[in-house]
Formats: sequence, C-alpha cells, structure tokens
Amino acid sequence: MMRFPPGFVWGAGTAAYQIEGAPDADGKGESIWDRFCKRHAVIERGETGDLACDHYHRFQNDVDIMRQLQLGAYRFSISWPRVQPSGSGPVNAAGIDFYSRLVDALLEANVQPWVALYHWDLPQKLEEQGGWPARETAQRFADYAAIVTRALGDRVSTFITINEPWVVAYCGYRWGQHAPGIKDERAGFQAAYNLLLAHGLGWDAIKAHSPEAQVGIANFSYNPMLLNRDQVDPGWLAFQRLENNAVFLDPVAKGSYPEPVLEKLGAAAPEIRPDDLRLMNRYDFLGVQYYKDQVVNLRPGAREQRYDFFDYTETGWPVTPLGLYDHLVMLRVQYGARRVVVTENGSAWPDVLGPDGRVRDEQRQNYLLAHLEQVHRAIEAGVPVTGYFAWSLLDNFEWVWGYRPRFGLVYTEFASQARHIKDSGHLYARIIAAHGLP
Ligand code: FCB
Repeated sequence: MMRFPPGFVWGAGTAAYQIEGAPDADGKGESIWDRFCKRHAVIERGETGDLACDHYHRFQNDVDIMRQLQLGAYRFSISWPRVQPSGSGPVNAAGIDFYSRLVDALLEANVQPWVALYHWDLPQKLEEQGGWPARETAQRFADYAAIVTRALGDRVSTFITINEPWVVAYCGYRWGQHAPGIKDERAGFQAAYNLLLAHGLGWDAIKAHSPEAQVGIANFSYNPMLLNRDQVDPGWLAFQRLENNAVFLDPVAKGSYPEPVLEKLGAAAPEIRPDDLRLMNRYDFLGVQYYKDQVVNLRPGAREQRYDFFDYTETGWPVTPLGLYDHLVMLRVQYGARRVVVTENGSAWPDVLGPDGRVRDEQRQNYLLAHLEQVHRAIEAGVPVTGYFAWSLLDNFEWVWGYRPRFGLVYTEFASQARHIKDSGHLYARIIAAHGLP
C-alpha cells in the first residue's frame, strides 16, 4: 500500500465551456469560444459547447456524483462572460448566483470548491478591445477576480488564476488553432506576458478581499523525452525549454524573464515594464498539468511517428508516466517550488458503455495508477505535492476535438445526458477512501 501524506487533496476537474452549455442563459455574454466554434471547419464535426454536459442545469446531479466518488475537492472554472458579460462594467447577478449555488451544493456534499478564474473563455467584447495581447486585459481580469472573490471568497479558499497560459497564448494567439484563432508571433508572446501580469494583479485582487485564500496558477508542463539523443542539437533543446517552461515559470517562481528569449524574439519580444515581474512573482502553489512527455525526435519527418514501445491514447498522446516525476522534481530543484498541486492529469480512450451500464476502461485505470505512483515517488523524493486532480470528472467538450475524446471518470451519454461512473471512477473512489494506492 502506497499511502499519501495527511491532508493530501484528491480532486477532479472540469472547465466552464467544456461542461456548462447554456451559452446565453440568464444574461450571459458571448465568449471567444462561443464565437470560435461557429467558424466553419475549426472544430471536428462542427461541434460546439452549446449543450456540452448541460451542467448549468444539472449541477446538483453532478455534485451528487462527486459525493458518491467521495471527492475531496472539485476544481471548476468560472465563465467570465457569465459573471461579467462584457468583461468590464456591470456584473450579471444571475451568473454569480449560479456559481454561488454550485459552491453551496459542494460544501453541502463535503467537497472543497477550487475555483479557476480563467479557463479560456474570454468575453468576446474584450477580444474586440485587443484581447490578451492588450495589457489592459490584465487589469480587467483583476477587476473580475475581485468580483468573484467578493461573491464567493467567504466559502471558497483556493483559487487558480489562469489555466495554462501556454495554451491560451501559443494556441490562441501565436499559432491560431484555438480561440480567437490569431497567428502572430509577437501577439503570442505579449499574450503570454499579459496572462502572467493578470495572474499577478489577480493575486492582489483576491488577497485584498480574502487574505487567507490560497492562490496558484496552472501551467502546462513541457517535459521533453529525447529519442536519438545524439541527433538533438543542445542549443535547440535549451531554447525549447525556455519558450515552453521558462517563459511561464521564471516570472512566477523567480521574478525574472528568460533573457535569451528576449534576444531571439527581437521586435516580437514582450514589453516589460518596471515592477511587472515583482507582481508576477507570487504564488501559494504551482499547478502542474501533465498529460505526456514531448517526444523529441529530430529525424526529419519523424514528428508524427508512433513507437511501439508506448501506448497511445485517443488523442494520440504517448503514455509516459515517468515524465510526471521528472517534471515535479524539476520544479523543486530548478525553481525551489514551495508547494505543488497536480491540477490536471488524465487520458482519453475509446470507451464502450456496456448494456449493463458499465464502462470497463482498463487503460484509464492503468494510466491513473501509473501516474499516481509517480506522484508518490516525487513526494518521497522531497517534492511538496499536496494534491492531485484527475482530468476530468465527466466526458465533455474537448475543444477542437469536440466530443470525440472522452477524458471522464464518469461517462456522459450526450444525447440523453445520462451519466455512468466508469470503472476508473470506482477505482478512484477506492483510492480516495484508502488515501493511497493498493
Ligand atoms: C488541458 C486543458 C483541459 C483539457 C485537457 C485535456 O490542456 O486545460 O481543458 O482540454 O487539456
């Protein structure tokens, strides 16, 4: 039996756009994902989050499922345009009320609410005023963080400011495959910078209203795995680490920005103003979002190659649990991380709902166990990991892939909106009850 330290938090996560549906209910404003999904051919099969898991109307049922799983914590995100439709100015009381009722239901079920303030659904109005590449957006975010903390801070004690600034900035503004679909190197790096500034200003806004709140940021993990080591150019690899990890971790964990990135970017470098880095350099915990290593193979044309020594998930990602250990240790050794939480980890598989209502998802169970084992090893090695959040509670709208990849511990029948706890969900409940791995 591998036991976890006392107080270790067992949770599961979701994000507003991926589960809520109800895109214009009760005064909600439009988000960049509402807009993006309407564009021709950007999402598989033309799917959208318009209905998703209809969680907006079924949250009580979903909280009941969490109770059955004995989740210690539930990490959800707040839709900014539901709370503040234009991203600035008036607050939509009905939007706040929805989250307030959700929080009450969670507390009633003995599940700690963990709130992520930004999981990608920027109010469309703010995008029209420049979006994340505009510095003012960081200030708007701080105002919004204050609104949420004023409303929920009496009952919510943990906040994640930004979910994966890497994805928001690089996929949204640099390469354009996510909302708002912009392809511009300079916009990408400036967005990354402004998201960290939003984290810093958000920190102050949250602490001003709720001084005891624990505040963190959830970062995408870049952990390269080298195949053909001798063919990898060390300079190239070093730069990969900088643009994928250091751009996001150095400001928050060290209060600096990686110089070689500024040099290489030249005119596309973000504008750094005095005091910004001091503002960014605050956290109570670093969130780690780990799915897989980045397999580096510099043989020309080999990028998409599959290797038979890995299992591959439904999203085409290799299963590489050891990388989670490496990444956690890296955070401790290179960044002196004071507290780390695995804020996302999980896998999609082609699940089959049996006629008996069971989903025998053996691969997801193996993935869960293998990754938890590495979290445990990291703790034993001295990394202060204090929680783990499985992604995801429910099968949901998986961004550009639509509803195809199923990441849930709970199976969603999208047509009827029926839910079924998968075998992996039952396994997770046993792990939680035992506070460790069998
Ligand atoms: C992460 C996102 C999350 C989900 C998983 C699979 O990058 O934060 O919303 O899409 O990937």
